[in-house]
Amino acid sequence: MNGLESERNLLAKKSNNLDGIIAIPGDKSISHRAIMISMLAEGKTKIYNFLEAEDTLITINVARQLGIEINQSSNFFEVQGKGLNEMKQPDKDLYFGNSGTSMRLFMGILSAQNFPSILTGDDSLSQRPMERVAVPLRKMGAIINMENNQAPIFIYPAKEILGIEHMLDIASAQIKSAILLAALYANSKTVIVSESVTRNHTELMLQYFKYPIQYNHQKIELNTGKLSSIDKLEIPCDFSSAAFLILATILAKNSHIVLKNIGLNPTRIGFLKILEMMGADIKATIDQNQFEPSGTIEIKSSQLHGINVPKYLIPLSIDELPLVFLAAACAKGKTTVRNADELRLKESDRIKSMKTTLTEFSINVVEHNDGLTIEGGKITGGEIDSFGDHRIAMTALIASVCSEDDVLVKNTKNINTSFPNFVEVMNSAGLNIQPLDN
Ligand code: S3P
Repeated sequence: MNGLESERNLLAKKSNNLDGIIAIPGDKSISHRAIMISMLAEGKTKIYNFLEAEDTLITINVARQLGIEINQSSNFFEVQGKGLNEMKQPDKDLYFGNSGTSMRLFMGILSAQNFPSILTGDDSLSQRPMERVAVPLRKMGAIINMENNQAPIFIYPAKEILGIEHMLDIASAQIKSAILLAALYANSKTVIVSESVTRNHTELMLQYFKYPIQYNHQKIELNTGKLSSIDKLEIPCDFSSAAFLILATILAKNSHIVLKNIGLNPTRIGFLKILEMMGADIKATIDQNQFEPSGTIEIKSSQLHGINVPKYLIPLSIDELPLVFLAAACAKGKTTVRNADELRLKESDRIKSMKTTLTEFSINVVEHNDGLTIEGGKITGGEIDSFGDHRIAMTALIASVCSEDDVLVKNTKNINTSFPNFVEVMNSAGLNIQPLDN
């Protein structure tokens, strides 16, 4: 075994002159939903550009345990949808590994089945809050038990799933999506109202499968109806994975990168808005809009300046906030991110993880209950742990483009949950990340 497979400690050395047209893998959020919604439709769906990462393969695994046939061909996965009610009771507990999206969205589907199920996860997932999904599902008639707000989760057959009117009190696309998936089984219309805008991939995909749904940013109305069969679904490349290369290009000297076919759904690209406000040279153009807008992003090296990140952009850049913190560390002046308390509940407490990381890099950081204030400075490099969090590991590694010294990140195996070829992709653009042998 080489260092990459075993320890997974990665050493990133300083690099400049990032260049090229770089391919990014498929979108994680949309890959999960593509499997779940095509298994609930009747007929075969071919899914192209599916993200083959640990988290999304877990969704496939769980679907197969529920009796769904999914076959892999050279460039697509074919799901044999069985309609809403033909799943089979799994022989054993359903294991969701590290994947919060798989567990929370499947809670919606499993609540409406006529068999019981037990949902488990790895240590990190078993510490993440799950009542936030169970509470609205119980309002719909679901029978869900757990202790201390955590997996294992026990779901029992409900008498009936009721259509509800629900006000989302947490800005979470996962909660919203679990309700929408359960609502496919409801006896009447479901209405979800929300003050914040969150990613709308579930709404867009249900619409693509011709399900009767109307929505705007504040309100979703899902009627009773049927999912039509869709022959082919092409997943755009993941904006959240592209974000690492976008920031690396901005921070490195003499760099110019072009990324194609990237998902440009407005509910996902708050990070681009934040970077533009900080002075970045970025051009994003939508080239097609089959069911999700996607297009080209062109980025050049830029000098950033500090800003106060507006509240409305927080849910629209939630997974990119570790990168916003790094951008702030390299900007002129002070940047403040508040209203981001949800970050404490991700794969790690990302406020704490990034404060520790940037402090190791000699940056001045003030911690708030719901964010960070960061004084831009000179990143020294240093050694950190991944905190068991793929996005922290990748963020720290790309800091090498502007650090004075090397960056060593320990225990980076979790990068496989979302971006298995991260090192190869980054190095093809000109970064220098290598496994560190024992
Ligand atoms: C996701 C929604 C977000 C995000 C997660 C994926 C999704 O979580 O952080 O990585 O696919 O719906 P919340 O909706 O809980 O904020």
